[in-house]
Amino acid sequence: MSTEDVTVRVPGRVNLIGEWIDFSGGTVLPMPIRSEITLTRRPNGTDTDVIRSAQFGSEARIGIDMPAQHDWPDAIRGALQAARAMGWIKGGQDVSVHSAIPVGQGLSSSAATIVAALKASRPAGETDDVSLALAARRVENEFMGVPCGIMDQMAVAAGRRGHVLALDTIDCSFELLPLPEDWEIVVIQSGVRRELADGSYKARQLECRAAMDVLGTEDLCHADPAQFARLSGAPAKRARHIWSEGRRSLEAVDALKSRDRAAFGRLMVASHASLRDDMEVSLPVMDQMVEDALALGAEGARLTGAGFGGCIVALVAPDRVETWWAALQARHPQIKRAD
Ligand code: GLA
Repeated sequence: MSTEDVTVRVPGRVNLIGEWIDFSGGTVLPMPIRSEITLTRRPNGTDTDVIRSAQFGSEARIGIDMPAQHDWPDAIRGALQAARAMGWIKGGQDVSVHSAIPVGQGLSSSAATIVAALKASRPAGETDDVSLALAARRVENEFMGVPCGIMDQMAVAAGRRGHVLALDTIDCSFELLPLPEDWEIVVIQSGVRRELADGSYKARQLECRAAMDVLGTEDLCHADPAQFARLSGAPAKRARHIWSEGRRSLEAVDALKSRDRAAFGRLMVASHASLRDDMEVSLPVMDQMVEDALALGAEGARLTGAGFGGCIVALVAPDRVETWWAALQARHPQIKRAD
């Protein structure tokens, strides 16, 4: 076993379309962003993991077999425990992280952290990125207790800068589609912070699960919508979102392949309406930002990620971006661009 430092860099991600469908048979279209996490790992010869974060300005020391503490080091500790269980590393580790990915903004800082810790622990030649992403998802689901899908881990483990990862979440097959040069993707931090672990994500997941149980399928994207008459209340609305978003994201793949920016933009707008009305994960302030982004000339705009705050993603013609951004920021002074 090497005692050398291993350093890896992993980006955050933004999802262009295909929201809330990565656990129910959907195709999703995330892409990596420029902001990334840098993580360094080395064995420390003890039974304690020592984890330092430049961002949180703190250090955690904790026994290697301890369960989740519901605190920031959990993502790394869960990954280290998984890496030890797979025989990739042995004993306590010193890990330091420096992350430029905004936390609580729906840009997958948590998935990037777990994937970075796993990549820094993976012996050369061991395990492809898809299996690594699946291991990262298990850390979130089982160690951290967040019932997320596979989109974020795949996007940050297998994505490529400047490319959209068209990911079939049933079998993790994917295509890397280059973003056309005349498409500019702008990621806007709304200033409203969200937490996946705070219960809202889980609550929505349970409603989706209730719909799946009644219909006897895990795959609502390919279900027969005539069957949705058997549902009522929240599960009926969630199923409607998942099914319609599943269709939109497949149409979005076609629009991207044919470089039809206007069509892609319209699908983003429809996605936002469905997230607002059927999935019910938007907030009035996010709706207003989307409306303003469109009124000021974006071709598409929608909330991205799980919702309840976080970021908006907009599709804008490159030659309009600067004036468009200045006008949007004049209306919403709290917003920031995420790179
Ligand atoms: C979070 C989850 C993902 C996905 C999105 C919503 O980012 O981690 O698995 O469900 O929300 O599309």
